[in-house]
Amino acid sequence: MTKWGNLAKKEVPTELVGTNRQPLAKAPLHPEAGLRRKKSPIAKLEELIKLIPDAELRSLVLQEIAKVSQEVEKLKTNKKFGLVFEEHRPEIVQLPGLPIKAGVNAVKRGSKNDEIYKVIAAENGSKFHIMRVPDGQEEIVSAKELVIIKKFGEPIYPTLIPLDRVTRAQDKTYHTIINADNFHALQLLLYCYEGQVDVIYIDPPYNTGARDWKYNNNYVDKNDQYRHSKWLSMMKKRLLLAKRLLKPDGVMICTIDEWEIFHLGCLMEEIFPNFDRTTIAIVHNDRGSKSNNFASTHEYAIYLIPANKSLIKKRKLEKEEQDEWKLRMWGANSLRTDRKGMFHPIYVEDGRVVGVGEMPPDDFHPKEAVYQDDKQLVFWPIDGDGIERRWRWKKAKILTEGNRLSVKEVNNRLELFIHGEERYYKTTWYASKYDASTHGSRLVNNILNGTKFPFPKSLYAVEDCIHSVCANRRNALILDFFAGSGTALHATCLLNAKDNGNRRCILVTNNEVSEQQANQCKKYGQFPGDPEFEKHGICESVTWPRCKYVVNGKRDDSTELSGTYMNGRQMKDGFEENLEYFKLDFLDPNEVAYGEKFEAILPILWLMAGAQGEREASRGYAKWFIPKNSPYAVLIKEEHFAEFKRELKKRQDITHVFLVTDSEEAFREMIAELSSSLKTKMLYKSYLDNFRINTEKNL
Ligand SMILES: C[S@@+](CC[C@H](N)C(=O)[O-])C[C@H]1O[C@@H](n2cnc3c(N)ncnc32)[C@H](O)[C@@H]1O
Repeated sequence: MTKWGNLAKKEVPTELVGTNRQPLAKAPLHPEAGLRRKKSPIAKLEELIKLIPDAELRSLVLQEIAKVSQEVEKLKTNKKFGLVFEEHRPEIVQLPGLPIKAGVNAVKRGSKNDEIYKVIAAENGSKFHIMRVPDGQEEIVSAKELVIIKKFGEPIYPTLIPLDRVTRAQDKTYHTIINADNFHALQLLLYCYEGQVDVIYIDPPYNTGARDWKYNNNYVDKNDQYRHSKWLSMMKKRLLLAKRLLKPDGVMICTIDEWEIFHLGCLMEEIFPNFDRTTIAIVHNDRGSKSNNFASTHEYAIYLIPANKSLIKKRKLEKEEQDEWKLRMWGANSLRTDRKGMFHPIYVEDGRVVGVGEMPPDDFHPKEAVYQDDKQLVFWPIDGDGIERRWRWKKAKILTEGNRLSVKEVNNRLELFIHGEERYYKTTWYASKYDASTHGSRLVNNILNGTKFPFPKSLYAVEDCIHSVCANRRNALILDFFAGSGTALHATCLLNAKDNGNRRCILVTNNEVSEQQANQCKKYGQFPGDPEFEKHGICESVTWPRCKYVVNGKRDDSTELSGTYMNGRQMKDGFEENLEYFKLDFLDPNEVAYGEKFEAILPILWLMAGAQGEREASRGYAKWFIPKNSPYAVLIKEEHFAEFKRELKKRQDITHVFLVTDSEEAFREMIAELSSSLKTKMLYKSYLDNFRINTEKNL
């Protein structure tokens, strides 16, 4: 790994991406790597040793080198199989909101992150002396020309700035949309939801080389020799954090195509060793788009499912797909003798299964497949040729799912049939509803009245991904941290509307501005952080408007959305859901007035307590804060704990209690007096310190 701030000097100009089953330099997996065969360090050492004039010393050193060499060979053969790539230093973050002062590191506004300056002195608070790191010339610039940056390991203090909200369902939780780099948002979310997320669905940039994503504020394109390593570094850091957010039975779904699928697979194997991996092919473009030798029609959704757990639900069949088949088995393993326990009578009254009989002794042979008395039909699994077979379902299933069975006459015989409304999801998804052009690009384009977004997913492909895990999890927490146009939230709303669910979605996406637009803005002196620049970003111009319009059923200009969903629901009806939109920003604890720091963490506390109730923005001047509509309470002055406790008793709905104190002992004493059903958390008086991120500890 190269030293931070010195990348250009130390990096070799080729990328190493491979697996460590073999020494990397000899067998690069990636064909583009085009590695030069370099002299091994041992060979170089041997050459240097030859220069030692003393023959005895030379021979001694050579013997020792031979031993080291043998040890290295041994280690190589013991090495596990895994992915090896050039790990890049974590991205540097620009903090345009923070004031410039002496001592900070900064970049020039609008520039890439590769030229870093140290602010060495301030002159009248308006001019600053800066020097390029590590050894540049001194320059004098104005504050407007600089943006503060933070390096890996330098703590930063995130805050959520509320920007907008939609409330359409008083008693539901709020979906949240966070405009942020997901690396920071994931660290913040870990404070709120570690081990609580049911499904993470992500659709990261596919790294096609088409300048479709940025690493360290630079677009990564085909000519970038570190393209794959940068992508893997970016993904690794995020997947490591994301994994910690999953519940023990949480599932991760990541879409990808052929550009990175193999690297990603190896990376996942390393990060998720205790998960089963299944790769689904989704035909999202049946017409095919030309690639080298083939017309490509599909992409992949990789499912990571905790090992040996059966967590994927069945797919509801469309009306025209619904089918029925006999409860009596036929073909291989269908005889009574194959499964004796599945040869027994089934009792049916008025077309409904009312009971299941015991397995008869081996020497009992019913004469008829169906007996009839006044009230009941009694079915045995005997076929038209009189051969004794067995039922397809076990007894318990016949009793619990008996409503899926019906009696039908076929070839003058009565038979029991299973009615099929659901079926396992297959590993290839091929249906018109998965078409990303019709149900992705055109849909988004229509909602946003012409604003385009590159390659949104089909709404129904994402709905099925979420449904496959959350069909029975009606209060599921769903996270998409590469949210793009917000399809995951739209799909969650649609799923909730179908089964009256209360699933909650958190979307994170950055406010990336297209390169063309950014160049245009630069001409007008508009840079990242300026409202005029930011309004062109994806989150502001696509994600939030799309989510808001689909929930409201209309745009901001009051025009109704046209069109219907595939289940016939009108888009103009919107959804009974709530949304809140935040921007993740950073604060300098020294620059925020003491009292205001509490307000800065309030949205985080609200999020921690489940994003319920309209968020109150100010605490007032009380000794505690218990918002009327949200189930949490904060004790601000610890000396008033006794009264606070009495207040808590008046509110049966409280689930989370935050206690402000700098003493762990005092915290422990207080929680000992609170109900154990409450989730409690200690908050430091220096409020921003509670949610410090980017430190070595939380990476
Ligand atoms: C392939 S798109 C996702 C499309 C989405 N599934 C949809 O249906 O609209 C990936 C998105 O992730 C965003 N993104 C890329 N890097 C990011 C990062 N580090 N943090 C947050 N968002 C990021 C990009 O701006 C882009 O909008």
